[in-house]
Amino acid sequence: MPQHTVFRFPTRTAFEDLTSYQEDIPTPSAHEVLIKVRAISLNSRDCQIATSQYPFPIKENLIPASDAAGEIIQVGDGVVDFSKGDRVLTCFDLNRLYGPSKHPVATQAGGGLDGVMAQFIVRPASAVVKVPAEAPQSFSELATLVCTGVTAWNALFGNTQLVPGQTVLVQGTGGTSMTALVLAKAAGATTIVTSSSDEKLRMVKDKFNPDHCINYKTTPDWAAEATKLTGGKGVDHIIEIGGIGTIEQSLAAIARGGTITIIGYLAKLDPAQGHAPDIPVLALGKEAILRGIQVGPRCMLEDLVTFVSRRKLRFQIDREFGFGREDVVAAYRALAEGRHVGKICILVD
Ligand SMILES: NC(=O)c1ccc[n+]([C@@H]2O[C@H](COP(=O)([O-])OP(=O)(O)OC[C@H]3O[C@@H](n4cnc5c(N)ncnc54)[C@H](OP(=O)(O)O)[C@@H]3O)[C@@H](O)[C@H]2O)c1
Repeated sequence: MPQHTVFRFPTRTAFEDLTSYQEDIPTPSAHEVLIKVRAISLNSRDCQIATSQYPFPIKENLIPASDAAGEIIQVGDGVVDFSKGDRVLTCFDLNRLYGPSKHPVATQAGGGLDGVMAQFIVRPASAVVKVPAEAPQSFSELATLVCTGVTAWNALFGNTQLVPGQTVLVQGTGGTSMTALVLAKAAGATTIVTSSSDEKLRMVKDKFNPDHCINYKTTPDWAAEATKLTGGKGVDHIIEIGGIGTIEQSLAAIARGGTITIIGYLAKLDPAQGHAPDIPVLALGKEAILRGIQVGPRCMLEDLVTFVSRRKLRFQIDREFGFGREDVVAAYRALAEGRHVGKICILVD
């Protein structure tokens, strides 16, 4: 039986717990496909899972990571939609075709189920999306669409759809926010990026030309600045990455009837503030929509892949690492250190 390299976390106390194994290359059953993984994109979630900080139950002896782009090597007898050689993306949730997840977390790759950190993976054909031939993106860029891409798409188009001319504010320069920036610009939005770093903002300005940048460290009342930039109206869509530590500013910055999509929880409540924000009162005062999301279903990945292929959108890959054990651990460290702009990826060869 031919073998391949698979990474697992037999324990999850530190990134260094990552262990390499040689295992049999899996065989697809009738409705499955075998994929040769070409690139993997890491998410903040992967760092949290590796160090047991993720707030949901995780499979034992996990194969980590959710986002892979690759090529079909073999299809099961009952598969009609895919052929050998197709470029494909894996779905974040293996059991979520449309709508909210029926079993949140349990069927998510690299969490409740084994993920993609392997040379070859088998997936149900229903949990794979084909990449159109015209797509100009690299395998790393494509892999980023699986989690942060669908999350950004769901935030901007999954409920109250972004309308051209509206304003979108993305918090920080990490993967989700940079992807949302690219999509928002392509959809005709006015865009605002916040960051803790002027250097990162300069880099983002050069590469993606957002309309406005605000340093949230030197301008802690960034809501007032954003409101001023919108002529007093406020921001129509906010990509909420901070959570409890930033939601009060978001509710101050949001336009009446605007949408705050609750995605991340990276900012703690400032003890100096002395009180938790009264979120319900602030939200009803603005008639704002606060919508929590967990990535999104397969149908959103399909729409996203079609959109970015036709518009030939390119995404920010901060660094690509190799597939040796030390390289993969270094990729986790780079993501956790937080000096990146955009995505950290791993090339599998
Ligand atoms: N709900 C979902 O479906 C979903 C999907 C994807 C990610 N997430 C969550 O979203 C968060 C971000 O994930 P990611 O993969 O995009 O992470 P990432 O690439 O590591 O980016 C994190 C970025 O967040 C920014 N940040 C941190 N604290 C901030 C604050 N107080 N205000 C504004 N920005 C702040 C920083 O930007 P600067 O360095 O520029 O300041 C940092 O670079 C994580 O909590 C993750 O678990 C949730």
